[in-house]
Amino acid sequence: MAQTTAWTRRHVLSLADFAPHEYDTILQTAASFREVLSRRTKKVPALQGQVVANLFFESSTRTRSSFELAAKRLSADTLNFAPGTSSMTKGETILDTAKTYLAMGANIMVIRHREAGVPGAIAMAMDELQSGVSVLNAGDGQHEHPSQALLDLFTLCSLLDLENPRSEVLQGKKVAIVGDILHSRVARSNIWSLTAAGADVHLAGPPTLLPKLFADLLENKGDRGSLWLHWQLDPALENADFVMTLRLQHERMAQHLLPSLREYHHYFGITRDRLQQCHRDVKVLHPGPVNRGVELSSDLMDDPRLSLISQQVTSGVAVRMALLYLLGSRKTE
Ligand code: NCD
Repeated sequence: MAQTTAWTRRHVLSLADFAPHEYDTILQTAASFREVLSRRTKKVPALQGQVVANLFFESSTRTRSSFELAAKRLSADTLNFAPGTSSMTKGETILDTAKTYLAMGANIMVIRHREAGVPGAIAMAMDELQSGVSVLNAGDGQHEHPSQALLDLFTLCSLLDLENPRSEVLQGKKVAIVGDILHSRVARSNIWSLTAAGADVHLAGPPTLLPKLFADLLENKGDRGSLWLHWQLDPALENADFVMTLRLQHERMAQHLLPSLREYHHYFGITRDRLQQCHRDVKVLHPGPVNRGVELSSDLMDDPRLSLISQQVTSGVAVRMALLYLLGSRKTE
């Protein structure tokens, strides 16, 4: 198992203040768990007796299943919460729901919510109660989605060095993030992790989905890669090593921000043709779920030589095992 003594963080809510050694600890720990997952018996007793509560107040397929499987592979007991069938329909508040899970012995709460800041607020309340509970943000509104960015980082670093994935292998690589940046917590978390790794991140989207304020994100962050904004696709794709496409998040659009999906695809959709201007080994990522034929052409999505989408999902389990393990073993030290 990787060296984890340096891990001191109780909650993972955002990547904005992540230190380089924290990224590398997660990458190394995830690599050990990838090895566990390749065995015949894909389970370790690391979190035996601990309770992981998955509190998903917003819909999810892969993130929720991935956290659940990760917890089970670590031998933790899992509790799954779905708002539609819970006491929230009877008026219970989010905090009271969290306290209920605390009373049942939850050690780690994995929280997704449509409002930014909810996992942070629950973490604060758990600290005030001196509960020792760890909170993992599984996506809060437009704010952050740390575990997604970490699995993206693990996928990219593993592609560049399978045996020893570490963030420095991304130094100087060009990563284009294309699409609905405004509503994307995935983009925000990836901006922190990729620039921390020294990558040059190029954001591209129509002005309504890529406001200028993103240009200020890296101010005062010091020693990092660079961040660029483009309101046209070509300069972002030119010689790019990786292209990360994002879903148009209609559920978060308060008004009509696009003339039509067809026009969006014409200007910002990623197709095989468009990839011609990228680096010849370019690979495409997408956090899922994908609107086929809108942000990404269907044939490209299914092409294993170009698409890393399945690897991202597979990486997700090892990375979430690493996160749960680091938070869970920190407590028992
Ligand atoms: C993302 C999310 O929920 O933020 N998906 C995911 O977690 N795999 C992106 C999205 O919803 O488009």
